[in-house]
Amino acid sequence: MRSHTLAVLPGDGVGPEVTRAALTVLDAAQERFGFSIERTEVPLGADHYLSTGELLPNDTVTALAHHDAILFGAIGSPRVAPGILERGIILALRGAMRQAINLRPVRLYPGVPTPISGLTPDRCDLVIVRENTEGAYVAQGSTVHRGTPAQVAVQESVNTWYAVERAVDFAYRLASVRRKRLTLCHKTNVLVEAGKLWTAVMESVGERYPDVETDYVHVDAMCMHLPVSPERFDVVVTDNLFGDIVTDLGAVLQGGLGVAASGNLNIDGTGTSMFEPIHGSAPDIAGRGWANPAGACLSLSLLLGHLGEGEAAAAVEAATAAVLAGMPAMAGKGMGASTSELGERIARAVTTGETDAGPVARLECSLMEQLATMLAG
Ligand code: IPM
Ligand code: MG
Repeated sequence: MRSHTLAVLPGDGVGPEVTRAALTVLDAAQERFGFSIERTEVPLGADHYLSTGELLPNDTVTALAHHDAILFGAIGSPRVAPGILERGIILALRGAMRQAINLRPVRLYPGVPTPISGLTPDRCDLVIVRENTEGAYVAQGSTVHRGTPAQVAVQESVNTWYAVERAVDFAYRLASVRRKRLTLCHKTNVLVEAGKLWTAVMESVGERYPDVETDYVHVDAMCMHLPVSPERFDVVVTDNLFGDIVTDLGAVLQGGLGVAASGNLNIDGTGTSMFEPIHGSAPDIAGRGWANPAGACLSLSLLLGHLGEGEAAAAVEAATAAVLAGMPAMAGKGMGASTSELGERIARAVTTGETDAGPVARLECSLMEQLATMLAG
């Protein structure tokens, strides 16, 4: 029997609820597709920090490095000052596990209500590749004359050829197994130094992918094109901060933050990849069963693809999409069922296979299976 090891980090707020739902779905997938996953729960987050003072202890990093994948819920709590948990846990993990790429698919599944009027699933299927270790996120900066009227804050954005090339090469590879179109998203008319580096990397790496067509869109213009004409995009590559921002917009196209999934990928075997819904901890609705588990389930689907369980990945995607299509609203009380009930519905669909030929099958292919093929290759 194929076996894998999984570290589970439920985290804060709605993180544990959506993670529990995803694990129910994982049970069903294991049962149906005949593989085993040994799970270890890791208690990182606000509670752990407030009771021990620890954010991401070294022995936890070592333990995580010995797992095949990490399933992550959400981190962040009003009980802790902003930035401490986010930087001390999420960003620290992305760095420690050398998760070079933040992969964020933007796909509108059939039957899912989108706030973009007239948008149809055939027009909304793209993947955003966000550089995941640098840019403004390297936390290089300083403040002088703090607390005086002369206070100066400097926050730098760092762009190395090494990290940009890694992200761009991954994006070209992904584009070459998709519709062969890659868009660089940046702000080269103002951030000229970083912009020149990104543009030069695009050109240099592009020589290895002659069949991929490229274009360029400024990040502000992207915020206009993305909702109006998402069909223009296949793979978009961008820096860490722009990627953070435009993927929230991408999530809106898909039906909301509750639906969007991500993979923080280590692509050189030096650490463990981590899969997380892109919504945050949503402390205002935590514990009420109002969080949509779809983002966590689709992240699980990406995770399964990463483990080489492509068939299970496709089944989980199909089941999640089918359950989403039957929901009156994508978040909150209006979902018509609780987080755990939705998890059970998705799990049941995985078990019976009744949704394998559902809405996803009517699309060109399973996005998750396609990503799985690419990740495996
Ligand atoms: C995300 C989140 C994180 C980020 C925060 C919580 C640090 O917004 O994953 O998009 O900015 O990357
Ligand atoms: Mg974000």
